[in-house]
Amino acid sequence: MRRWLAALAAAALAAGCGPPTSGLSAEELWRENCRSCHGDDGRGDRARRALAPRLDLTRSPLVRGGQRGPIYQRISYGYATMPGFVHKLERGDLELLTDYTLGLGGP
Ligand code: HEC
Repeated sequence: MRRWLAALAAAALAAGCGPPTSGLSAEELWRENCRSCHGDDGRGDRARRALAPRLDLTRSPLVRGGQRGPIYQRISYGYATMPGFVHKLERGDLELLTDYTLGLGGP
C-alpha cells in the first residue's frame, strides 16, 4: 500500500502537480544543508554527538520508528540547537529530505 502511494506521489511530481522543489536531488540537498552537522552518513561527529546524542540520526527513535510527521516538523522548524529550514527550502525539498532521513535508519 505504501509503495503504491509512493508511486502515485512520484507520478504526481513528474506531472508537475506535486509540491514545489528546487530541482536538487535529496543527496545534493543533504550535502548542502545537513552534512556540516550530521555528516555524510547521518551520524554526526563523535565530539558533537556527546553533547547532542540525537545528532546521530541513524539511532534516532523517530527515524527508526518511521515517524515521518515529526521528522518533517523538526527539519522544517528546527530542534534544540538545529535551525529550521522552512524559510530556506521548498516544501518538496523538505519532503525529499524527510525521506532521505528516514532512509538513514537502516532495516
Ligand atoms: C547546525 C547543525 C545542524 C544542521 C545544519 C542540521 N542539523 Fe539536524 N540536528 C542538529 C542537532 C544538534 C540535532 C539534535 C538536537 C539535540 O539532540 O539536542 C539535530 C536533530 C535533527 C533531527 C531530529 C532527530 C530526533 O531524533 O529528534 C532531524 C530529523 C534532523 N536533525 C535532520 C536534519 C536535516 C534533514 C538537516 C538538513 C536539512 C539537518 N538536520 C541540519 C544539528 C543540525
